[in-house]
Amino acid sequence: MPDNLTSIPRLEDLGPLQGKRVLVRADFNVPLDGDRITDDLRIRAALPTLQWLQGQGAQVVACSHLGRPKGKPDPRWSMDPVRARLAELAPGVELLENLRFDPGEEANDPAFVARLVEGVDAYVNDAFGAAHRAHASIVGPPKTLPSAAGRLLFREVEVLLGLRTRPNRPFVAVLGGSKVSDKLGVIEALLEVVDALVIGGGMCFTFLAAQGASVGDSLFEPDQVDTCRRLLEAGKPIHLPSDVVGLDAAGERAQWGRNVPDGGKGLDIGPGSAAAFADVIADARTVFWNGPMGVFEDPRFEAGTRAVAEAVAACSGFTVVGGGDSAAALAQFGLDDRVDHVSTGGGASLELLELGDLPGLAALREAPNAR
Ligand code: 3PG
Ligand code: MG
Repeated sequence: MPDNLTSIPRLEDLGPLQGKRVLVRADFNVPLDGDRITDDLRIRAALPTLQWLQGQGAQVVACSHLGRPKGKPDPRWSMDPVRARLAELAPGVELLENLRFDPGEEANDPAFVARLVEGVDAYVNDAFGAAHRAHASIVGPPKTLPSAAGRLLFREVEVLLGLRTRPNRPFVAVLGGSKVSDKLGVIEALLEVVDALVIGGGMCFTFLAAQGASVGDSLFEPDQVDTCRRLLEAGKPIHLPSDVVGLDAAGERAQWGRNVPDGGKGLDIGPGSAAAFADVIADARTVFWNGPMGVFEDPRFEAGTRAVAEAVAACSGFTVVGGGDSAAALAQFGLDDRVDHVSTGGGASLELLELGDLPGLAALREAPNAR
């Protein structure tokens, strides 16, 4: 096991908890439609930790951020819907108000940390999706309180660090999403460990342009072309689309080869690319997938993402899907229980793959009870 994992204190390292007040930082930043939770995965994912603590006789106080309310109370981001769902799933767990209603959370203000830990005996971080943020509730409490990683945080780190250190080969990473610039760090890190990289989504057009293809009005980052060219020459196989689906200049759905004509906008990978990508995935013994292949929310442009999701679901190797859009796509296609690990973190999973560590993990290692 990598040191960055074994050096993190676990729940068992907290000592006796009977009658103790335990603060649990969770990531209950769930998608909302008004005040309706559209996916409660992040709440359900914290239950093993919450229930274990209750089983030890602890009094559990959970806290989380929700949305980006910018340091002041905002009724749109009230924790009420989360509190209601949590009361159904984990009766008896208390939930604090949205941490980001206070500017001290994101500023990592010691005075805010002091308020959070007042009257608390121990701290648990189970907020994998927010563990890349050096915010007060993530890095503050372990400075003074006995602290531990919750079950979810530990499992996420175990799976994702495992990809970096001992993947079964071939290891194929499939990346999509709109911007190369957002994913540059993780692409470079992945190229060190994968056997092949598959690239779709909006960011494929900057790579295609680096190979001399025309991209029409597709998403395109001119300042990243040289970088893409360098990555393509790095020596690892990088699979790019051979065909593209999108809207032509008249706004009609169209299909092209790898050149998108003037006025055309690529919005999905084409069927030839989807089949080729599925073949690469089928042969893999480890797959990491992050980012949709196209605008899958629109049924006209969902086929590429669906093909990749189905290939990942059918792959007999160890399959990991990074959070956010790709997890939503899996759920949309009813395939979320067909992969080995769906991460609850988007940015956090990419940062952990890139750097091998996160601020929230480093903070736990410095806790007074850490081994
Ligand atoms: C997420 O949903 O990505 C996490 O909860 C972190 O939220 P943030 O990107 O607003 O910090
Ligand atoms: Mg985010």
